[in-house]
Amino acid sequence: MTISILTLFKEMFVGPFDHSIIKNAIKKNLVKINFINIRDFGIGRHKIVDDKPYGGGKGMIMRVDVLEKAIAQAKKLSSIKQKVILLDPCGKTFNQEKAVELSKLSHLIFVCGHYEGVDARIKEFVDEIISVGDFIVTGGEIPTMLIVDSIVRLVKNVLPENAIDEESFSGMTFGKSYLEYPQYTRPEKFKKLTVPNVLLSGNHRKIKKWRENQALNTTKKYRPDLINKSKTEKRKKKQ
Ligand SMILES: C[S@@+](CC[C@H](N)C(=O)[O-])C[C@H]1O[C@@H](n2cnc3c(N)ncnc32)[C@H](O)[C@@H]1O
Repeated sequence: MTISILTLFKEMFVGPFDHSIIKNAIKKNLVKINFINIRDFGIGRHKIVDDKPYGGGKGMIMRVDVLEKAIAQAKKLSSIKQKVILLDPCGKTFNQEKAVELSKLSHLIFVCGHYEGVDARIKEFVDEIISVGDFIVTGGEIPTMLIVDSIVRLVKNVLPENAIDEESFSGMTFGKSYLEYPQYTRPEKFKKLTVPNVLLSGNHRKIKKWRENQALNTTKKYRPDLINKSKTEKRKKKQ
């Protein structure tokens, strides 16, 4: 998979992409990450990338002509199974289902807005708009890091086989998009807290059943909305 990131602040990515799973995926050539400096497409001698908003108001808006040129350049890198994604609070909220969908593509192009945002006309030049939640961050860089991290770990051969099978939201936690069951490791007893006996029993059938119940209980406790979502999806499939 190739990931192209259009940004004015490439330095922000130093660190998050240089460790752990992403670092290994890059090293093994499973993922290639390109940075495209939006400033390179800026206007005039000073490479201007933004301007004041028409109609007045605070802050600076990133110019559509500059962004469009940067997108066109990124698109040339690889055109098979490609998607241009704008990070913007107006987009659909990112989730695991979207991560799985995007992990199957070959070239993802992320457009990071900054300052007061981007000229609205840029939406005509992207395939999809994604938000990371109902809050505002300074730029599209941190949302892109989050999204790229969640996608890269789903790319084939990045993690060992079956490693993500029973993860929260995977849709595979016992066939539903529930949260994961609770996990424990050593010590067996910590202060007054013990590991559930069933996990020490060696009885895999019982452990599986216990985990299934716990996944349901954890979801009911922390995210009851997911139970309703699962029921609605099941109803829709039947119709
Ligand atoms: C300060 S924000 C602009 C916010 C904009 N003025 C508004 O009120 O919606 C600058 C950039 O950060 C990114 N951004 C901010 N919040 C985001 C979110 N929740 N999801 C995705 N991107 C976000 C976008 O790329 C945006 O263009």
